[in-house]
Amino acid sequence: MLFRLENLSHQYSDGTLALDNVSLSFAKGERIAILGTNGSGKTTLLHHLNGILKPTAGKVYFEDKPLEYDSKSLLDLRRRVGFIFQDPNDQLFAPTVKQDVAFGPLNLGQPADQVKKLVDETLGLVGMAEYAEKPPHFLSLGQKKRVALAGVLAMQPEVLIMDEPTSNLDPRAASEILHLLLHLNTKYGLTLILATHDVDMVPLFAKKLFILSKGKLVTEGSPKELFSNADLIRDVNLRSPRITHLFEVLKKENNLPVDNQLPLTISEARKEILRLLNLEDAGKDRGEGESHERD
Ligand SMILES: Nc1ncnc2c1ncn2[C@@H]1O[C@H](COP(=O)(O)OP(=O)(O)OP(=O)(O)O)[C@@H](O)[C@H]1O
Ligand SMILES: [Mg+2]
Repeated sequence: MLFRLENLSHQYSDGTLALDNVSLSFAKGERIAILGTNGSGKTTLLHHLNGILKPTAGKVYFEDKPLEYDSKSLLDLRRRVGFIFQDPNDQLFAPTVKQDVAFGPLNLGQPADQVKKLVDETLGLVGMAEYAEKPPHFLSLGQKKRVALAGVLAMQPEVLIMDEPTSNLDPRAASEILHLLLHLNTKYGLTLILATHDVDMVPLFAKKLFILSKGKLVTEGSPKELFSNADLIRDVNLRSPRITHLFEVLKKENNLPVDNQLPLTISEARKEILRLLNLEDAGKDRGEGESHERD
């Protein structure tokens, strides 16, 4: 296993028990979502994965070895496990965007011309190339988030942890960032661990979902499995994706013969509508899925 949490608890110094006996694991190359309401413990959990926080009980294993918390071990870990904070103001510090993105690779001892190339490339990937000379603190929050992502990608990590990847991003930027992450996962096997309460986004990228509530791991499974359990989703104060909810209503209130496996995304919904209309072949002529849809 790439990461394994064993009976992990975390109690903050004021006594708040933010994680309560959480055990979970996942493998290299997976696309994981940690889902839960505000205060359920998502950020606290992510902070244990690259040693920002130490468990107050239990253990974190990376590649089957317990994490060590001396500065050299943490540096080695953070080279491989990139972390994008929920608040990009916690991440950006250099006088210009360009210097901020260059900081990591320069620190790793990469030659200046190589670093320049990486900076240009990664700023291009996140759509921030034209802001290279600007001081990060003058950027909007969404722009800061994209620069923070560029800074982590410039380190060429094997694992990318992103806390609330789409918060503060406009719909187009959110979709572009999500597609970029999916591309890095499918092409280079980048392991993705994203924490969010955006239930509409989860089925677009996650293969596996862990749901937290009040610091406890309530359940794990595929988005299909978990979102089809309406009671469970309600119990943890979440909701189904909007498109799923629409089909739930059509099934219940209008007795439409909707498949028991409710669609979670626009492209799944489209297929189901065509099936219901007996027009299954119609979709094939126009190509599958919308540009912003994957699943
Ligand atoms: N430094 C801290 N000291 C004390 N309590 C904290 C600290 N950080 C977080 N908490 C508490 O721990 C619990 C979990 O917080 P956490 O930030 O992990 O939640 P979250 O799921 O990431 O929420 P959000 O969706 O709002 O980002 C909350 O009750 C929070 O008030
Ligand atoms: Mg959080």
